[in-house]
Amino acid sequence: MTDKIFIDGILKGRVAFVTGGGTGITGGVARALAEAGANVALVSRSMDHLEAATKIINDAHGQDANVGEAFAVAGDVRNPEEVENAIAATLDRFGKIDIVINGAAGNFLCKAEELSPNGFGTVVDIDLKGTFNVCRAAFAQLKEQRGQILNISATLHYLGTPMQLHVSAAKAGVDALTRNLAVEWGRYGIRVNAIAPGPIEDTEGMKRLVPEPVKEKLKKNIPLGRFGRIKDIETAAVFLCSDAASFISGEIIVVDGGQWLLGSRLG
Ligand code: HXC
Ligand code: NAP
Repeated sequence: MTDKIFIDGILKGRVAFVTGGGTGITGGVARALAEAGANVALVSRSMDHLEAATKIINDAHGQDANVGEAFAVAGDVRNPEEVENAIAATLDRFGKIDIVINGAAGNFLCKAEELSPNGFGTVVDIDLKGTFNVCRAAFAQLKEQRGQILNISATLHYLGTPMQLHVSAAKAGVDALTRNLAVEWGRYGIRVNAIAPGPIEDTEGMKRLVPEPVKEKLKKNIPLGRFGRIKDIETAAVFLCSDAASFISGEIIVVDGGQWLLGSRLG
C-alpha cells in the first residue's frame, strides 16, 4: 500500500467500478481509491488477476477499517452483456456506483502494414468500444449518484508513434469519448475525465512496448529525467475522483514528466 498524500477518507463512502483493476497501473489506482476509503469492484477477464488484487485490498481493510473493501467480478469489456452483469453484481454487493475507471486495454507492437483487421479491431474493441460499453451500462447509476468517469488514455496519438497505429486510433477515440460525454452528461452532474500516462515503469505496457536497449535513450528524453511510476497515476486518479476536482470535467490530464512535448517517441 502507498504512503499517505491525501487526508484520510477522502473517498469514504464512494463505490468505484474499475476495469483492468487486477493488474498494473489500474490495479494501483484501485488500491489507491480503496486506501482513500472507497469500496472497489475489480473487473477483468482473469479471476486469477482479480483475486490476487482483491486479497491485497481486503487484507488492508482487515487491518484498517478506513480502507475500503474490494470485490472481484469477471467480465470482458468487449461483451456488453458481461459488462451489464458486472454492473449488476457490483450493485448487489455495494448498492451503488459513484466512480467508473476504464483501465482495461490491450496492446502489442506491430507495423501498420503487418496489422491484420482483427489485430486492429481487437484493440479498438477493448480500449474504445469497451470503454463505451462500460460508460453506457453504468449511466443510470452515475446519473443517480451524480458520479464520474475516469478513462485511462495515452499520449501515443498526440504525434505519430511507429508500430502503435491500433492503440493510437483507439486512445484518440477514448479522448473523443471523454470530451463528448463530459458535454452530454454534464447536465446530470456526471464528470468525465481521463489520465494520459507516459511510459510507466514496472508495467505490462512498458514490457511490451519498450525493449531493454531502447529504455535508456527513451528515459533521457523525458524532461523530468525518469520513467513514470504507478504511484504517479494513483495520486492523479485520487485527486480527479475527489471533491477537490468537482469543477473539472472533459479534461485529459497528461502524467508523463513532460515527455510528449519533447516529441520523444518509441521506435
Ligand atoms: C500482431 C497480434 C499480436 C502481435 C495479437 N495479435 N498479438 N498481431 N502482433 N504481437 C493479433 C492476433 O494475431 C489476432 O488477429 C488479434 O490480434 C487478436 O488476438 P488474440 O490473441 O485472439 O486476442 P485476445 O486473446 O483477445 O487478446 C487481446 C490482446 C492480448 C490485446 C491481443 O495481448 C491481451 O489480452 N492483452 C492484455 C494485456 C495488455 O496488452 N496490456 C498492455 C496494455 S498497455 P488475427 O488476424 O490473427 O486473428 C497499453 C499501453 C499504451 O495499452 C501506451 C504505452 C506507452
Ligand atoms: P495491464 O496491467 O496489462 O492492464 C491492462 C488490464 O486490462 C489488465 O488488468 C487486463 O486484465 C485488462 N483487460 C485486458 N483486456 C480486457 C478485456 N477484454 N476485458 C476486461 N479487461 C481486460 O497494463 P498497464 O500497462 O498497467 O496498462 C493499464 C492502462 O494504462 C491501460 O489502459 C493502458 O493503455 C494505459 N497506459 C499504460 C502505459 C504504460 O506505460 N504501461 C502508458 C500509457 C497508458 P485481464 O487480463 O485479467 O483481462
